[in-house]
This record gives sequence, structure tokens and C-alpha cells, in this order.
Amino acid sequence: MILYFTGTGNSLYIAKKLSAALQDELLCINERIKKKDYSPIESHKPLVFVLPTYAWRIPKVVEQWIEQTEFSPNTDAYFVMNCGSDIGNAEKYLLSLCQKKMFSFKGVKEIIMPENYIALYDAPEAAEAKLIINHAEPGIQDCVETILHNSSFQKLTPSAADRIKSSFINHTFYRFVVKADKFNANDKCIGCGKCKAVCPLNNIELKDNKPVWGKKCTHCMACICKCPVEAIEYGKNSAGKPRYQCPL
Ligand SMILES: Cc1cc2nc3c(=O)[nH]c(=O)nc-3n(C[C@H](O)[C@H](O)[C@H](O)COP(=O)(O)O)c2cc1C
Ligand code: SF4
Ligand code: SF4
Repeated sequence: MILYFTGTGNSLYIAKKLSAALQDELLCINERIKKKDYSPIESHKPLVFVLPTYAWRIPKVVEQWIEQTEFSPNTDAYFVMNCGSDIGNAEKYLLSLCQKKMFSFKGVKEIIMPENYIALYDAPEAAEAKLIINHAEPGIQDCVETILHNSSFQKLTPSAADRIKSSFINHTFYRFVVKADKFNANDKCIGCGKCKAVCPLNNIELKDNKPVWGKKCTHCMACICKCPVEAIEYGKNSAGKPRYQCPL
């Protein structure tokens, strides 16, 4: 089973490719988290988690969902982490998650995809994004081959900086950066409700036809990037930046 979580479509893109090549079903973790659905999952094929990288680890909300969900009978677990530049020392934390879940850890594959974190960085325009995705194709193909042969992904060798990014900086990031306070909608808002619909954490309500953000945000960038009229800003950080959605 191919299980994916996505803010802006990169993980979905990879998940669909794996699903087609491996002839395996797709499961959307966003929907499960949105519905607070922790019902057991039955898979007779390996579990292949396709996830974005948040602060050099898998998204915390996904880790919590995996912890609370039962999986059987196949508990071989592959992780395909896509990122703007690198996944740091994510492997260490995936291994301990798998030990907790009694999964057989089959490794993690890093796939570089277009950056989507417009609250802090710039995202590429569609043409540049397509080039980055083209470069990712051999890595996606490697995933297919490894999973088909029931092999493991190659173990990664973290640097000292990787260890710091996935531990200390990850904690600091969640404590001080991941907040919805800076989101706001300007006069371009047409009250369509898409931002509310796409939020995996139900963190957005419409009041007088305008979105209001709560305190459960995970900074997935879905609301700001999927607004059809680009009415959402993240303080001054997002002004003038292209909104990112996987162009393929
Ligand atoms: C909150 C947040 C944190 C991120 N942290 C990292 C990171 O630590 N390293 C990295 O290379 N990319 C990071 N990124 C970039 C995304 O992992 C990357 O663009 C990913 O492909 C987005 O996938 P999606 O479109 O499925 O949401 C981050 C993005 C967000 C929104
Ligand atoms: S998606 Fe954009 S236009 Fe639609 S309600 Fe949200 S902010 Fe307004
Ligand atoms: S409020 Fe926006 S950025 Fe935060 S979790 Fe919801 S959709 Fe993602």
C-alpha cells in the first residue's frame, strides 16, 4: 500500500508513480488525519510511506497518526521522503518509529523535489519545478526497483550537521516557527472555502466568508498555495512569491 501525505502535491506525484509501477493501492493520510480516522489498515503488500520533509524529519502529524494506527498483516515499511534539499538525519527517527510499531524497517529514500515552503523560502515557478521533477525521476525509479525486489534502501550516513538539524533544530522549529498567527486573507478573498477544505488539520474556519486560522497548524502550505485568487499571505514573508503546486 502506498500511503502519502501532501501539502502541495509533490508527495502525491511520487505516490501515484509508485502506485502505477507497483500496481498497489493509494491511501491519502491527509484525509485520515482530517477525519481523525485511526481505524486499522490492512495491507498484504509492504507499507510505502511517501512524505514531505518538515525540519529534517517526517511531519510530526504523520508520525503521530502512524503511532495511533494499527497496520497488518504486512508490516515491511519503506519511507520515500521528498524534500527541497535534504532530509538530514531523518532515518534515525524512522528506525525508532518502526521499532515502536514492530515494523520491519526497509529504509528511507531521499528524493529532491521543488521547495514549497513559501512561509520561509522561495518556491520555483512551474517551468523550473518541472526540471527539478525530471531530475527526480531516476530516484523514483530506484524506489520501484528496490520495493519490487523486496530489498532495502541503502543506509544513509548522516553528518554532524544532519544530526543537529533533525534533533535540536527540529524541536526549535516546532516550538517557535510552526504557528498560524501570520496567516491572513486580504480583500481578494472570494469566500470560496477552499482553504478550509484543504487544511488537513481543520485549522481554518470561515467567519463572514473569510478564513480565520486556529492554533493547530502544521505549516503544510496547502491553504496559501491552493487559494484560487492568491488572497492568503503569511505576514510579509510570502509577498510577491509564486504559490507552489506540483505542476505535473
Ligand atoms: C514546514 C515545512 C518544512 C520543510 N522542511 C524541509 C527540510 O527540512 N528540508 C528540506 O529539504 N525541505 C523541507 N521542506 C520542503 C518540502 O519538504 C518539499 O518541498 C516537499 O517536496 C513538499 O511536498 P508536498 O508538496 O507533498 O507537500 C519543508 C517544507 C515545509 C512546508
Ligand atoms: S481559498 Fe482563498 S478565496 Fe477561498 S476562502 Fe480561502 S482565502 Fe478566500
Ligand atoms: S492552516 Fe494552512 S498551512 Fe496550516 S495546516 Fe492548515 S492548510 Fe496547512
